[in-house]
Amino acid sequence: MKTIKRIGVLTGGGDAPGLNAVIRAVVKTATNEYGWSVLGIEDGFEGLLGETRTRPLRPSDVRGLLPRGGTILGTRNRGHFAIQQVGGRIIKPEAAYREALANIERLNLDALVVIGGDGTQTIAYEFFQRGVPLVGVPKTIDNDLVGTELTFGFLTALDVATEALDRLHTTAESHDRVMVLEVMGRHAGWIALEAGLAGGADVILIPEIPFYIEKAASRVLERERNGRTFTIIVVAEGAVPVDGSPVYQDRGNAQSQPRLGGIGHVVGDAIQQLTGKETRVVVLGHLQRGGSPTAYDRLLASSFGVAAVRALAAGEAGSMVCLKCGEIVTCPLSEAVLQIKRVPPDGQLVKTARNLGITFAGEDD
Ligand code: F6P
Repeated sequence: MKTIKRIGVLTGGGDAPGLNAVIRAVVKTATNEYGWSVLGIEDGFEGLLGETRTRPLRPSDVRGLLPRGGTILGTRNRGHFAIQQVGGRIIKPEAAYREALANIERLNLDALVVIGGDGTQTIAYEFFQRGVPLVGVPKTIDNDLVGTELTFGFLTALDVATEALDRLHTTAESHDRVMVLEVMGRHAGWIALEAGLAGGADVILIPEIPFYIEKAASRVLERERNGRTFTIIVVAEGAVPVDGSPVYQDRGNAQSQPRLGGIGHVVGDAIQQLTGKETRVVVLGHLQRGGSPTAYDRLLASSFGVAAVRALAAGEAGSMVCLKCGEIVTCPLSEAVLQIKRVPPDGQLVKTARNLGITFAGEDD
């Protein structure tokens, strides 16, 4: 790797609280510790195309960013680098990569810090394989990246979902209703599971445990018999009934990915029909992604940003910073993008929930 003088930083995929804290840490460390200059690339990898969209980032440009939600650099979900599948064949957008590589050269970028989730890190790995020295920083409120025990943004989302459950409790109890809360979590039910535990839900439905709606309804009726005249159900957007399929708001196209959403209403309607109980549904949506990061997310995001720059300075590339056993370390990007981290159906948290009397309405419940 040639001597680093100037690096680029970008944010890709869905936003998450803590992105700005990473940008701040990258700029401060690169500038103050190593004397490098930093260029912010706007709108994810899209900012590397055409005339390019970039802006210099100095420590004075990142002042006050620590508590600010969103990303000052902007982000994109798929864009021109998304891998297409045509007739079972995987097609990589080589023309876009060529254009971006030429621009990286023209902008004199010696390395990149890429902040993003599984989709963004997969694209980062493609750039690395095409010769760009880079280090990834894992981000997603879903906490579903395999290389790291925790991604920043998750704990903030967890707090929002838990507070929503606390609030739903009081109104559910007052009206003797069933309340269904739909939370994010495409392929992994971490938010639903952990918020369900922290917020005292009675039923948790997650993508990893296909559910029988009849079992969820039985739990509502069983509670009723025991004098508990309300029930709280939390459902991840990617949860699926046994022999059913995920519920989409929008199936997506070449530019946009399919958008899950609506399982909460499917569950709510069925529960009302099967139990005769008045049921209300709340979809928490992007409230989980917006706003200020919690203290721990700020800490994790800052530690990741500093560690990414240090890794580049140490000559590392093609890796991702991650949290393992309380330590910030790096792992190869090739491993980090292989698969996503899902809730183990027989894992400790699921067992804990079952021991607390929560049902997943699955085969083993
Ligand atoms: O990956 C995080 C996530 O929050 C998913 O849980 C959700 O399906 C998705 O982003 C929604 O993203 P957007 O609304 O930006 O398409």
